[in-house]
Amino acid sequence: MNINFDTLLQKDSFTKDEIVQLLKASGEQEKALFEKSREVKLKHVGNKVYFRGLIEFSNICKKDCLYCGIRASNKMVNRYDIADDQILKAAKFAHEHKYGSLVLQSGERTDTAFIDRITNLLQEIKKLSDNELGITISMGEQTKETYQKWFVAGAHRYLLRIESSNPELYKKIHPNNENHSHATRLKCLKDLQDIGYQTGTGIMIGLPFQTYEDLANDILFMKEFDIDMVGMGPYIEHNQTPLYEYKDSLMSLKDRFRLSLRMIAILRIIMKDINIASATALQAIDPLGREKALKIGANIIMPNITPTQERANYLLYQNKPCIDEGADDCTNCMEARINMADGEIGYDQWGDSLHYKSRH
Ligand code: 5AD
Ligand code: FES
Repeated sequence: MNINFDTLLQKDSFTKDEIVQLLKASGEQEKALFEKSREVKLKHVGNKVYFRGLIEFSNICKKDCLYCGIRASNKMVNRYDIADDQILKAAKFAHEHKYGSLVLQSGERTDTAFIDRITNLLQEIKKLSDNELGITISMGEQTKETYQKWFVAGAHRYLLRIESSNPELYKKIHPNNENHSHATRLKCLKDLQDIGYQTGTGIMIGLPFQTYEDLANDILFMKEFDIDMVGMGPYIEHNQTPLYEYKDSLMSLKDRFRLSLRMIAILRIIMKDINIASATALQAIDPLGREKALKIGANIIMPNITPTQERANYLLYQNKPCIDEGADDCTNCMEARINMADGEIGYDQWGDSLHYKSRH
C-alpha cells in the first residue's frame, strides 16, 4: 500500500516497500525527493566536495565479470600496467594540486609480487606527500592478511562494491565458479571493516534481471552493514561482454541515469553522514551527470589523473568520459563543474567519512 508521498518524505528511515515507492517517483514527486535529499546533504555533510585523484594503474585482471569490459576473457583489450615511477608522479601531481586524497584502482591480482608492489607504493606515496595524501585503494578481493598489510602501509579506505546484495542476481552477472562468489565478496567487506578501514561499497543500477526490490534491498544492505562510503552508478553495457546479449531488455540509459539519482537521494536521506561518490558512469550518460548527483546528495568526486596514454584502455563500459584529457585539464574542468553545482572544493583535506568517525 502506497502512503502519501509528502508524509513519506518526512520520515528518515524507510521500509523496503517505501523505498520501492520512492524509487518509482517521477515528475513533482521526484523533484520533492531531490529537494529533501539536498536539504539532508547540506545539513549533515555541508556543500564541500572532496577530491579523490583516481589512478587506474592497470587493467590486468584475473576476474571474468560478465558486465565488465576489462574481464580476463576479453582478448580485444590492450593490457597495460603503469610503471611505479609514473604512478608516483601522478600521486605527486595530486598532492601538489591539493587534492587531499588518491584512489588507486586496478584489475584484480593476488600474486605475491603484486601484493608487495602495492605495499611499497603505499609507503612511497605516504613518504612523498609527508603523510598528507589520504589513500583509498580498490583492488578487489584479497586475503585478510593482505588487507591488513596494506592498511599498515598507509591505505585507510577501501572500495569494494558488492555489485548486488542479492546472491541470485550476483550469480547471473558473474561466471558460475568459486572465483566469483557472493559469500567471498561479503567476507572481504567484513574483513575490511574489522581491520578498521573506512569501508566503501556500491552496486550497479539498471542491470539485466534487476528489480526495484533488489535496489531497495541494496540500500537496506548498506544501512545494515553500516557502510562508510558508497559509490554506485548506472550499469552501461559493453559490446565485448557476455551481458551485452541482454541489452534489449534494459531500461533506457536516461532512465537508468534518473534511477541512479533517486538511489543516491534515498541513500542520503537514510545514511545522512556517509560519503557518497558521484560515479563517473553518470557522466557517460549525461555530460552533467556528476554535477547533478552532487546537487542532490553526493559529496565526493574522483577526477581521473591516470596518465593519459592509458586511459582509453580502462574501459569498464563504453562511452567513458575524460579519456583524452590530461590531469590538468580534469582539474580545471572539475573546478568549473563543482562551482556550477553550488559546491565548494575541500582542497588539501582528507574529507573522511563523518559516519566512520562517529562509529569509532
Ligand atoms: N557499467 C557500469 N559499471 C561497471 N563496472 C564494471 N563494469 C561496468 C559496466 N559495464 C563497475 C563495477 C565495479 C567498478 C570498478 O566498476 O561496479 O565494481
Ligand atoms: Fe575530466 Fe572534465 S572532469 S575533463
